Amino acid sequence: MPAQQVHYGGMRVRDFENDNGMMIFGGMRAADIADRFGTPVYVTDEQILRGNYRRIHEAFNSRMPTEIHYACKANTNLAILSILNQEGSHIDAVSIGEVLTCLKAGFPADRIMYTGVNVSDAELKALLETGCRINVDSESELERLAKLTTDIPISFRITPGVASGHSAKVMTGGKGAKFGIPYNRVVDVYARAKDLGFDVKGIHAHTGSGGLSTEPFSEVVDVLCGLVNDIEAETGIRLEFLDFGGGVGVPYKAQEEEIDLDELAEEIVETVREETSIKTLALEPGRYIVCDSTILLTRCVDVKDAGPKKYVGVDAGFNTLIRPAFYDSYHYVAIANKFNRACTAKYDVVGPICETGDYLAHDRALPDPEEGDVVAVYNAGAYGFTMSSNYNSRPLCAEVLVNNGEAELIREAESIEELWRHQRIPERLMR
Ligand code: LLP
Repeated sequence: MPAQQVHYGGMRVRDFENDNGMMIFGGMRAADIADRFGTPVYVTDEQILRGNYRRIHEAFNSRMPTEIHYACKANTNLAILSILNQEGSHIDAVSIGEVLTCLKAGFPADRIMYTGVNVSDAELKALLETGCRINVDSESELERLAKLTTDIPISFRITPGVASGHSAKVMTGGKGAKFGIPYNRVVDVYARAKDLGFDVKGIHAHTGSGGLSTEPFSEVVDVLCGLVNDIEAETGIRLEFLDFGGGVGVPYKAQEEEIDLDELAEEIVETVREETSIKTLALEPGRYIVCDSTILLTRCVDVKDAGPKKYVGVDAGFNTLIRPAFYDSYHYVAIANKFNRACTAKYDVVGPICETGDYLAHDRALPDPEEGDVVAVYNAGAYGFTMSSNYNSRPLCAEVLVNNGEAELIREAESIEELWRHQRIPERLMR
């Protein structure tokens, strides 16, 4: 039988240290973290998180002043946000809840940019109270905002006609998308904003999420540069920043290649410099910053040989990590207490949710899984906890931060009682 190590051949998915068959994460044995905090549990390595932020910031900012707007929809844990605040990150927020969460984590309002879609008047009013920046998504939103105030700097999200992403569900920039100002309306909308008295500072587009190709970035930057010049020529507005959105993918599979950030940054900065007078860039990576900083630890509770299929039953299901079930996403899995041991057979890793679609991994070679083993699911930091749910009345799980061999709880697991906290039984039904 091949050693599990074989599956790491040329692997771009993060390769963790192995101490006598024990996976080491953040200077600790992953299995010890599971024992101490219980499972399922999301575990984040502070050093990886800081490293990711610094790498992407440096790649762009060393070439042109660049704001990294961390797309916090990927992970809104307050401790993780506090670390990114210390690093000097800005924020891309999509709801008043995200804005208030980032303020709570210590971000100053002027480092938070809100980009919503189908934004209500109530949300606009609440946003104005926070003092965050507003990136306007539609003509309706512009007119409704103008009724509340014109005394704030704004920017616009435009529909670039360029789509990217790992799944059709996360492609956002194609022609006819629900997001942004349609391309043929852009110049008129900037003119209208100027007439209304707004100070319009920037332009933004987002093509989609999780692709590993750099082409969509080149294409969207070309579109944005063209528009910056059209807007200036026709309205006299000189934009200060160009934000080309998020979507920097990470490798989830062994054979996938990382994006070369220096090459990407070089190309984009060169285009922007040559074609426009823009002085500041912004981008909104979510996945790139948090994805590989975090693993999900889940315990094997049941092993079943069902004839044509073998199953490793674990205590995390699509209530805990929905990406495989929802997008057919691939997450690498390893047994943390039999790390790099010889694999014996192929298994599906499945959870406790009563649906056949509840799986974490299909057809993975694993080393003799047994009840009590700790399964580590890689690349769980982006859209992992934030998309988890209480389906099947299962409480949300805990989150832990590890840093050079020390572990701290950064979210308590919910209790069963907390599942009922917002529910009311009308008196008449109690009789
Ligand atoms: N900016 C905007 C306007 C966005 O809509 C998004 C993601 C981002 C930035 C960040 O994209 P990233 O750098 O993380 O790829 N739940 C899906 C991903 C949905 C992304 C939605 N928008 C997943 O689990 O793959």
